[in-house]
Amino acid sequence: MKTPNKPIVLITAGPTREAIDPVRFISNHSSGKMGYAIAGAFLDQGFEVILVSGPVNISLSHSCLRVIHVNSADEMYAACQQYFHVAQITIFAAAVADYKPAQVHAQKMKKSAHEFNLPMVKNVDIAFEFGKIKRNDQVSIGFALETNDEEQNALKKLYSKNLDLVVLNSVQDEGATFGHDTNKITIINRDFLFQAYPLKSKAEVARDIVMAAIQLRQKQEIPIQA
Ligand code: CTP
Repeated sequence: MKTPNKPIVLITAGPTREAIDPVRFISNHSSGKMGYAIAGAFLDQGFEVILVSGPVNISLSHSCLRVIHVNSADEMYAACQQYFHVAQITIFAAAVADYKPAQVHAQKMKKSAHEFNLPMVKNVDIAFEFGKIKRNDQVSIGFALETNDEEQNALKKLYSKNLDLVVLNSVQDEGATFGHDTNKITIINRDFLFQAYPLKSKAEVARDIVMAAIQLRQKQEIPIQA
């Protein structure tokens, strides 16, 4: 990196695309806006940012930003593996496809029968994998986009993926779903503290998340008194 003395943050953003054949893929509606807004907010705070991005219609450039463009979950995971160990903070903001086609067809699949079934296999859970090797001097934050049992599901993700904070989005909140320029979040920490924020622009929400991450990092750096 150009500025090795700056703290490094690793961010995943956007959707992933899982290929079916050379012309088709499975994906989701993630716009990447939240992940990119978080990248911008970390740059404003003087961080070196490594943004591993699925296909989105956003462009961001900055001398302290490296964007690594990927398509699939496997590619996103491989890119993160190169940088996770140097990142003080990692934000898992990508909407990673949970499943991928069991086989990528080399040729365009032709239609034949009336019905079509596509065998799928589970994708790598990137946040879960890095949760297994996270060090005590690293902070990681994940998202939980839920439609029901929001708090229980978010807490499950916080613990199963060994996150320090989980950012809960409820699909039931107007203005908080895919593609909007606004978001309404609740940040949950490992002491079961729930901090609910009002509906804000994604830039403002990004600042709130970045400040929460920086506060946690600062706590890690305070030496424990004997
Ligand atoms: N995540 C990830 N890799 C995956 C799936 C999710 O890194 N294969 C991360 C997301 O970036 C997010 C968190 O894990 O920070 C939770 O993602 P979400 O899609 O809400 O939940 P899942 O773990 O996929 O569970 P489910 O789809 O059953 O709600």
